[in-house]
Amino acid sequence: MIEKINTLRQELENLSAANAAEVEALRIKYLSKKGSISALMNDFRTVPAEQKRELGQKLNELKEFATERIAALRAEAENASADGDRLDLSRDAAPVRLGSRHPLSLVREQIIDIFRRLGFTIAEGPEIEDDWHVFESLNFAADHPARDMQDTFFIARNPEVLLRTHTSSVQTRTMTTVKPPIRIICPGRVYRNEAISARAHCFFHQLEALYVDKHVTFADLRQTLLYFAREMFGPDTQIRLRPSYFPFTEPSAEMDISCGLCGGKGCSFCKGTGWVEILGCGMVDPNVLDACGIDSKEYTGFALGMGIERITNLKYLVNDLRLFSENDVRFLGEFTSAR
Ligand code: DAH
Repeated sequence: MIEKINTLRQELENLSAANAAEVEALRIKYLSKKGSISALMNDFRTVPAEQKRELGQKLNELKEFATERIAALRAEAENASADGDRLDLSRDAAPVRLGSRHPLSLVREQIIDIFRRLGFTIAEGPEIEDDWHVFESLNFAADHPARDMQDTFFIARNPEVLLRTHTSSVQTRTMTTVKPPIRIICPGRVYRNEAISARAHCFFHQLEALYVDKHVTFADLRQTLLYFAREMFGPDTQIRLRPSYFPFTEPSAEMDISCGLCGGKGCSFCKGTGWVEILGCGMVDPNVLDACGIDSKEYTGFALGMGIERITNLKYLVNDLRLFSENDVRFLGEFTSAR
C-alpha cells in the first residue's frame, strides 16, 4: 500500500494539462468516486490495525496533495486561455490613425514652393508690431481708416503697439535691415477687428512677396504673377490686372484669374464674370523705399500680397472661413491625400 501511495504521489507531481478539459479528466482519474485515490481508500479498510495510523495519515496527505495539484492545474489552464484570447498573433495590427496637414499649411507650402523656384527666400516678422512698420512706413496717411480702432487690434490701448493687420509690415522690416537686391516672401498670420462669419475672421493668413533691385519693372511683376497663377491653378489659367489703390504701391493693381470652375465662360462661382479676384499688387511706392533708407532714384521694386485662405477657397472650394479654425477632424481629414 505504501508503494502505491508513493507511486501516485510521484504521478501527481509530474502532472500537466493543456486545457480545462484535460484537467477535468485528471480530476476524474484521481479524485472521483471511481478514481485511484478512492480505490486506495477502499483498500485501506483491509489494512492491519497497527498500520492504520501511519497509512491513514499518508493517504489523507495524498488526497490533499492531489486536490491542490488539480486546483493549480485548473488555474493555469484558465489563465492560459484568457491570455490566448488577448494574444491572437494572426490578427492584423490595429490601424494607426494618420494625421493630416492643415489645408492652409498645404497651400502655403505650395505657394512658397512656386516662389522659391523664382529665387525668393522666406522672411519673417513679429505678429505684435508697431505703428511704423504696419502703417507709417507704408505710406498710410495719419487719418487712414485702417488705423482706426474699428479695424486694428491695439495692445493695452497703446496706439503704438498693435497686432499686424497685414504681412506688408515684413516688407519694411526687411528693407530697413537688408540691402537690395531683395527677393523675399513673407507668409504669416494677420489680425483684424472683424465679426466672425463665413466670409470674415478676426485672424487669417497672408503671403507677401517683395522684389527690390535696379531696373525692376511692372513687366517683371506681370510675368511673376502669370507664372504663379499657372503653377498654382493650372497651365490654362489666364490673368487680368485691374487698376486699384494701395497706399504703399504706385501704380497698384488687383489680379483676377480666369474662373477654374467654368473656364472663364461665367458661372455662379464667378458671378457670371468668368474671373475671380485673388490678390493685390503694385510697384513699391518711392515714399516707402525712401522711408526704409533705400534710394528710390536708384532702386525700384514690386510687391504683392494674397490671402492664403482665399487661395485655399479657390483651390479646394472651401467657402466658409470658420472651417479653417474649428479643428473638426472630419473637415481636416479630407485633406489627408492632398499633397
Ligand atoms: N497688404 C494688402 C492687404 O492686406 C495686400 C497687398 C496689396 C499687399 C498690394 C501688397 C500689395 O504687397 O502690393 O490687403
